[in-house]
Amino acid sequence: MDYVNILLGLLFVWIVVRGLMSLGRSKRLAPGPFPLPIIGNIHLLGDKPHVSLTQLAKKHGPIMNMKLGQINTVVISSSVLAREVMQKRDLSFSSRCVPDALHACNHHDFSVVWLPVNSSRWRTLRKIMNSHIFSGSKLDANEHVRTKKIQELIDYCHNSSKVGEAVNIGRATFRTSLNLLSNTIFSIDLSLTDQFSDSAKELIWNIMVEVGKPNLVDYFPFLKMIDPQGIRRRATDYFTKILDLMSGLIDERLKERKLGKHADVDVLDALLNISQDSPEEIDKNQIEQLCLDLFVAGTDTTSNTLEWAMAELLKNPHTLKKAQQELAQVIGRGKLIKEVDVAQLPYLRCIMKETFRIHPQAPFLIPRKAEEDVELYGYIVPKDSQVLVNVWAIGRDPSLWEDPLDFKPERFWESEIDVRGQDFELIPFGAGRRICPGLPLAIRMVPVALGSLLNTFNWKLHGGIAPKDLDMEEKFGITVAKAQPLLAIPIPL
Ligand code: HEM
Repeated sequence: MDYVNILLGLLFVWIVVRGLMSLGRSKRLAPGPFPLPIIGNIHLLGDKPHVSLTQLAKKHGPIMNMKLGQINTVVISSSVLAREVMQKRDLSFSSRCVPDALHACNHHDFSVVWLPVNSSRWRTLRKIMNSHIFSGSKLDANEHVRTKKIQELIDYCHNSSKVGEAVNIGRATFRTSLNLLSNTIFSIDLSLTDQFSDSAKELIWNIMVEVGKPNLVDYFPFLKMIDPQGIRRRATDYFTKILDLMSGLIDERLKERKLGKHADVDVLDALLNISQDSPEEIDKNQIEQLCLDLFVAGTDTTSNTLEWAMAELLKNPHTLKKAQQELAQVIGRGKLIKEVDVAQLPYLRCIMKETFRIHPQAPFLIPRKAEEDVELYGYIVPKDSQVLVNVWAIGRDPSLWEDPLDFKPERFWESEIDVRGQDFELIPFGAGRRICPGLPLAIRMVPVALGSLLNTFNWKLHGGIAPKDLDMEEKFGITVAKAQPLLAIPIPL
């Protein structure tokens, strides 16, 4: 009994002291929910933190201070403040809070996704990507690779249609985007079968699952040594295996190049050429880590976007029909789409923007970190705070978008708003220094894949589900997937 009283007494004193402290600082820290002892506000996150934080922002405002365990977190939920963070004060907010799982194999020391912007390594990697992987001329040169992989996706759907089988759209497009990247980088298919046990695919998938899990260590860094959920341990195992696989592919290529058996054709050749000419820019280990980054960052962002676009179209048959009419008129029914055609397909482009608005794949972008104390909107964002830009909330903000929950591509007909990081109402690829370097590839590949699926088939939901009953629940992880996979039967047009 005495112990209980002492504990209750301590708890009371703690709450009073906390309250007084926060009163004293309230002029400076942004408003936010009252933190509980030890856990802070973790209990408010739920299993869909992007939804919970959107609700909380309605109460506390577009800049909100929270305590997630020991980590001070600032949540930005308006386009005006997002511009402030990523354009006007970009340098102060451009580094990352690195999740513990990414310390596996010291990945964070080499990864373009996690290195701080003031490191020369990050700058070199971004420069290499911009000029040797994602420049217009490089992407023009390997369009044939993307065409081939999209044709294979269509062939796969044809085979399913012959036997009246439903296609698991997320899984089929995941395989397409993985193979598309692996052919662009290594000139091989990394996913050889549509079986899930296929090793590279499974490893990349598992890395995303581990990194996407809420990890106690990220809220309570003192638990780092213990790794209580075993996340870093498992991530280390997957990272080791996939880096070994990359290392084997690079060794093979180096042998072929020595024997003069290989013409410069892909990204790996470009990277090895740089490493030969200026070894200080990139070495073999760094090439392995960069390739891993490209696979992890580029595969399920792309396939999830395609799955959501298809799901929205199947739920809204009149929109689907309108898209198919445009394709039939401009391209001709049944034909594959070329990347140049997209400029002539304004409705398809509106569908893409609407999908990015309502289903941004990284709802908080990739978490940023305040490099110093920064004053924002009259409040202080303390040094080392984690900064989450809630792009999901901005995409559904009723003060920016009419009927924000409805899928209405027409809203973009007369609008100049674009996804390239200048219009802060729509920033699915982020903005500023840290904007997604894969954007030029994604905005070529996603509309072409979607348009080709729509221009070759009519689609029927599996199991006789009526369009209006299609389940659109989300599953939060490193990206936001559809909770129930989209299963649809292709019927050739
Ligand atoms: C629909 C497709 C995609 C979406 C929605 C997307 C979204 C994003 C977002 C939101 C960020 C964080 C930006 C920020 O913090 O401001 C990001 C970063 C990144 N993305 Fe993408 N991405 C996509 C496709 C790709 C592809 C295809 C690749 C490469 C093959 C790629 C590679 C990267 C990399 C390397 C980064 C880290 C950049 C850095 O931190 O400096 N992404 N992406």
